[in-house]
Amino acid sequence: MANLLATKPMDMLMSEAGEEGGHSLRRALGPVNLVTLGIGAIIGAGIFVLTGSAAAKYAGPAIVLSFVLAGIACVFAGLCYAEFASLIPIAGSAYTYGYATLGEIFAWIIGWDLILEYAFGAATVASGWSGYVLSFLQDFGIRIPARLTAAPSELLISYNGHWEHYDRVKDTLIARGIDWHTLPQMKGLFNLVAFFAIILVTTILVIGIKESANFNSGIVIVKLAIVLMFIGIAGLFAIKHSSLVWANWTPFIPPNTGKFGQYGWSGIARGASVIFFAYIGFDAVSTAAQESKNPQKDMPVGILGSLAICTVLYIVVSGLLTGIVPYTSLNVSDPVAVGIDATGVTWASFLVKIGAIFGLATVMLVMLLGQSRVFFSMSRDGLLPQWCGAVHPRFRTPWISTIFVGSCVAVFAAVVPIDILGELVSIGTLLAFVIVSAGTWILRRRRPDLPRPFKTPWVPFVPIMGVLVSLGLMASLPAATWIRLVVWLIIGMVVYFGYGQKHSRVQAALAARKRT
Ligand code: ALA
Repeated sequence: MANLLATKPMDMLMSEAGEEGGHSLRRALGPVNLVTLGIGAIIGAGIFVLTGSAAAKYAGPAIVLSFVLAGIACVFAGLCYAEFASLIPIAGSAYTYGYATLGEIFAWIIGWDLILEYAFGAATVASGWSGYVLSFLQDFGIRIPARLTAAPSELLISYNGHWEHYDRVKDTLIARGIDWHTLPQMKGLFNLVAFFAIILVTTILVIGIKESANFNSGIVIVKLAIVLMFIGIAGLFAIKHSSLVWANWTPFIPPNTGKFGQYGWSGIARGASVIFFAYIGFDAVSTAAQESKNPQKDMPVGILGSLAICTVLYIVVSGLLTGIVPYTSLNVSDPVAVGIDATGVTWASFLVKIGAIFGLATVMLVMLLGQSRVFFSMSRDGLLPQWCGAVHPRFRTPWISTIFVGSCVAVFAAVVPIDILGELVSIGTLLAFVIVSAGTWILRRRRPDLPRPFKTPWVPFVPIMGVLVSLGLMASLPAATWIRLVVWLIIGMVVYFGYGQKHSRVQAALAARKRT
């Protein structure tokens, strides 16, 4: 009987981390690349789309506090990721940390769980992105067949002369008292736009890590410039109209309606669990550890730097947004553009929409990067087939796992209605945070001797808080999401016992060590 709790020995991990040469990944990323990779993954649909409805439905102006709360949860986990990523700079991220501390079965669970974060995350973003593109092009009179921007059973509604994804307009319709049944509607056919977006991003990832990082950095600069532009325009407007801002912020925490999660403190907590999605992505930096020139030093900079920058931006953006627009008017699919319109600087709302469209492209890129690296590591450990771990001799990228992941995600985004999966992405990520936080403390106790280039401060307080706050956010997600998570993990167990356990290289190496 194989040892399900076998841990991967540190000497094995260290020698893999130090691999160089043609069959290994190219070490091309410096600290700035890593920070921009983090920002590329973090700033996306969360801030551009979810902030508005979370403020309108759950927290009111106190959505700022929801951002602070979710940000704190991420900082606890981020500090633990930073310690692991500098200590064990391997592309498998949380999966590898689980292997080093909790044992193979937990590593498998976390590797399988990361599919929810990275692959499903990329598919969710691609699907939302196609709705954005459809709407944006129609603003300019460019008509593309709407049915090719939605999956087969996804609903499209004609509203204001535009075909829109039902999800994008449902809140607006409810707010305006319009019954969507009375509007022209049709079903999607195949989300060709999402499909091509994923194929394009996959191609860049195959060609090279440097090329991918440059593509990402270019877009991150545009994305950051647009967020800063919003802050500048909205900030000036707020200074000039301070009495309006004051009125919109009063009461800052709207009283609870009597139902859990509808305003008041419980609304802040509910808001935090919804906008947690906006923070997802900083952990993906750790999957680039084997492509970093100096992971010991630069991994913590990439993870914590991108998280810190985005946390500050999110708090400022959400504060300004609820200051210049009454939160009750923010239940729309493009709240940041609505905020800009309220300042009267209408040309800038065009740029905000461009920012969202470009911005989501890098979220897809970094998510797919993360997924292919996790599969790469799992394959090198024998838990997935060997072909998944192949490195392209010229590009030095895990090209087969990248193409495999990209193809699956592209088809998935094109044919599966993904709206229900957004919360699965959050719960999957939070589970990874729980394991990484717990793992940090466990390894500190088991191997206090290991040289840790970056040390999480206040252990065990920080890891314990990382576990508790992540569990708390998981608890506030709906029961249906939990059921889906459990079903997903059960499928994972079937695959593990059917394949992974039988081909585990660590099990084989440990057995060989015992014999000698
Ligand atoms: N944080 C990413 C986003 O908001 C996933 O789109």
